[in-house]
Amino acid sequence: MKNYTKIKDISNLSETIKNAILLKMNPFEFQDLGKHKTLVMLFFNSSLRTRLSTEKAAKNLGMDVMILNVNDAWNLEFEDGTIMNMDKSEHIKDAAQVISQYADVIAVRAFPTLQDKAKDESEYVLNNFKKYATVPIVNMESATAHPLQALADAITVTELTEKAKPKVVLSWAPHPKALPQAVPNSFVEMMQDLEVDLTITHPEGYELSEEITKNTVVNHNQEEALKDADFVYVKNWSSYRDYGKVLSQDENWMMTKAKLGHAKFMHCLPVRRNVIVEDAVLDSEQSVVIHQANNRTYAAQVVLKEILETL
Ligand code: CP
Repeated sequence: MKNYTKIKDISNLSETIKNAILLKMNPFEFQDLGKHKTLVMLFFNSSLRTRLSTEKAAKNLGMDVMILNVNDAWNLEFEDGTIMNMDKSEHIKDAAQVISQYADVIAVRAFPTLQDKAKDESEYVLNNFKKYATVPIVNMESATAHPLQALADAITVTELTEKAKPKVVLSWAPHPKALPQAVPNSFVEMMQDLEVDLTITHPEGYELSEEITKNTVVNHNQEEALKDADFVYVKNWSSYRDYGKVLSQDENWMMTKAKLGHAKFMHCLPVRRNVIVEDAVLDSEQSVVIHQANNRTYAAQVVLKEILETL
């Protein structure tokens, strides 16, 4: 693997999932693979899981890790040819080349503006790092995708399914703030590549990009969609059509024990209790969110391992 900026960078998904599960059983098997190699992690936005699990993954492979909260550094300019006489102090062209001298792999977290759809869809932060850096790039959640989370989700479903083809439902939930579509986008793309029966449910107006959903079943009736579900992945996202807007805060969409039935409950975390999902679900045996968060380490580790093997 040369980069991991999108799910399609995985050449053999079932093999990658299998190898992640093997790494989970024996995390230090390749502890010398990353010796004298450095992962630089750049955060334009906050993180708990991605930051810690990716650092742990890199260290399990013997890598050194350096972390920069980019807001503590110089304000970066991403436009080409601009006269930099305003608030931007350093151009991405220079910064990416400089960081590449300190890093063997660069991982980037940069959320969308949720104001400018075209700019967000251009993935200008991630793609400028890809363009100007001279080392592999890993996406730690970009404007439109969270492929490390989706890989952890795929590992989780693979480990916990009791059926050859489980029914998986992605269910929108209310949230007071406008959140990106990155997690649901990548979850949908990932489930399309697994042997699952996928349904998406959300209120009208919350349709994800058709480039993502393709032929996936969308049912605006949550109760119908949840029928006979084996896994229910609950997530808020802001409107894609009415870009970045919060169109509904209808609390009837919150996940409850009664609605969940016998399904396993999934969420990427962080989660707002009793807004997205009631305590009774999160605190029950049916919740696999902690298991999912643990799998973030092995998702990152299998990706870093595949990248290190190409260096
Ligand atoms: N799920 C996830 O990406 O968590 P963090 O935002 O805490 O990294």
